[in-house]
Amino acid sequence: MMTALTGFDPAPLPCSREAEARTADVYARIKDVIPAMEWPLHAPEIDAIRDLKRARNAVVLAHNYQTPEIFHGVADIRGDSLALARQAVESDAEVLVVAGVHFMAETAKLVNPDRTVLIPDPHAGCSLAESITPEDVVALRAAHPGVPVVTYVNTSAAVKAECDICCTSGNAVRIVESLGVPRVIFIPDMFLAKHVARNTDVEIIPWHGACEVHERFTGDEIRTFRSRFPSLSVVAHPECPPDVLDAADHVGSTAQMIDYVRRERPERVFLVTECSMSDNVAAELPEVTFVKPCALCPHMKRITLPRIRHALETLSPRVELDPEIALRARAPVERMLAVT
Ligand code: 13P
Ligand code: SF4
Repeated sequence: MMTALTGFDPAPLPCSREAEARTADVYARIKDVIPAMEWPLHAPEIDAIRDLKRARNAVVLAHNYQTPEIFHGVADIRGDSLALARQAVESDAEVLVVAGVHFMAETAKLVNPDRTVLIPDPHAGCSLAESITPEDVVALRAAHPGVPVVTYVNTSAAVKAECDICCTSGNAVRIVESLGVPRVIFIPDMFLAKHVARNTDVEIIPWHGACEVHERFTGDEIRTFRSRFPSLSVVAHPECPPDVLDAADHVGSTAQMIDYVRRERPERVFLVTECSMSDNVAAELPEVTFVKPCALCPHMKRITLPRIRHALETLSPRVELDPEIALRARAPVERMLAVT
């Protein structure tokens, strides 16, 4: 449940030489991935957001799929869904601005019920979260009595409220095995469910959701890139179809994918996931070449610098949860955090 949005879309701030000078440190970090002619548009926004964060005692949590000017320019906490959930609890800021999609902001609110949690655009959804309702979970439980429900964190708080434990792409196998049961219902991503099923003896009863970005990758695409670049490393997110994961050298959450590139330093790599992440890692590792077919998540891209600034100026839109749903949805998230 969100508060209403007013005054949207915010007008961008005018270009300013002073703001460019004050943010020169940021541009030095991302100059390889943001053209110089674009920088005058970002600099005043980054400059204003830095001031607003101090004034509001706020931090910006940015998912790995945010664009480099957000990820490297204004984020205080960066990472995959698990890292954002965990670090949201650890921060002592009064205001948390989630530069990510709606379920991530809800998760931050669930574990920080007394803090102000803002999402710069509340319409930043997720095809996985939209693929299942609380009523669907109730029906699944009725069809499989006594079988626990593991939900990927990419679901609404109302769906989490009907589940036993959450997981992320980084800990799914471990969470499923932590239950010590022979069968689990695993919602909502059918490809992540398949990936988990291949890596555990626990029987997995899946739902039929899919990520609209990752479901489009194909094994043939990977093979085509490999024939063009024989030394290519391929690192895939487990939301991809099984033939893509079969063709990859390594599979993991977005944070695990980044760790792999930092560790292995491949000469050329294809991160089979949302493509802003390659820009963010390229800014850090200029010696690695990224093969990067465009695969943007339209929901993640709803978050922009002007919308982050507007959220900090107005302390809205806020994430507000129904207290009864929040109470029940918090338990599966906290169980996950306790296991991991
Ligand atoms: P991660 O938890 O791996 O960051 O994945 C979140 C997500 O939405 C992937 O599409
Ligand atoms: Fe959801 Fe896919 Fe976008 Fe991730 S990339 S937020 S799973 S639609």
